[in-house]
Amino acid sequence: MIRFHVNIDHVATLRNARGTAYPDPVFAAQICEQAGADGITLHLREDRRHVKDDDVARMRAAIGTVMNLEMAATDEMTAIARRVKPDVITLVPERRQERTTEGGLDVMGAREPIAKVASMCREVGIKLSLFIAPDLEQIAASKAVGAEQVELHTGEYCHLSGPAQRVELERLRAGAVRAAELGLEVAAGHGLTRHNVIGVAGIVPIVELNIGHAVIADAVFDGLAGAVRGFRAAIERGVAARGP
Ligand code: PXP
Repeated sequence: MIRFHVNIDHVATLRNARGTAYPDPVFAAQICEQAGADGITLHLREDRRHVKDDDVARMRAAIGTVMNLEMAATDEMTAIARRVKPDVITLVPERRQERTTEGGLDVMGAREPIAKVASMCREVGIKLSLFIAPDLEQIAASKAVGAEQVELHTGEYCHLSGPAQRVELERLRAGAVRAAELGLEVAAGHGLTRHNVIGVAGIVPIVELNIGHAVIADAVFDGLAGAVRGFRAAIERGVAARGP
């Protein structure tokens, strides 16, 4: 069994493009849950370019599965998370100019702010996940700083093709195995599509996938529930390839 979390940020981006009240990301989250998503992921960015504070509060009340709040390790976000109490916090690096989250966290370089969030999470009872490259040093540092889970950045794998992509898939596999040996839960995400997700879902220690852009893109043609079900089928193809 692999958990499939849908990132609904792009629904908010579409709403914000016209300043209308629709499409509502909370309604989208409910449709995803009904179509079989195991959780909902949302990223409250410093510039509020997609979901806004009010969406986060409404989402907390509406989500019946797992709420995974992606955020930067800042005092502002920590205060919001302490109030909202998502089930999971995923810490991500954030640069204002980037189109989306481009790289993984430098856990060693940001030890102090991450440790502050980790201590709030322990106090309030929130699971902490760190979004990192499949790099053995970052994995060890994630364990040391008190994370329960790492989310391995699949962006590089998704940009590549052919033999280079297979090399990156093996790097993801090695990272996932190492993280699991350290007792960390292993998630993965970024850039995944119905096609390239199959290889990642085949990696044994991976127990969770966070997917946004391609789900919402597929929804334009298939409807949101259809897109979620299509992704689930692709993920199950990858899981089946793990063998017995
Ligand atoms: N995981 C994390 C930590 C992310 O920041 C994002 C993008 O917000 C995703 C997963 C989803 O990536 P994509 O939208 O490319 O599927």
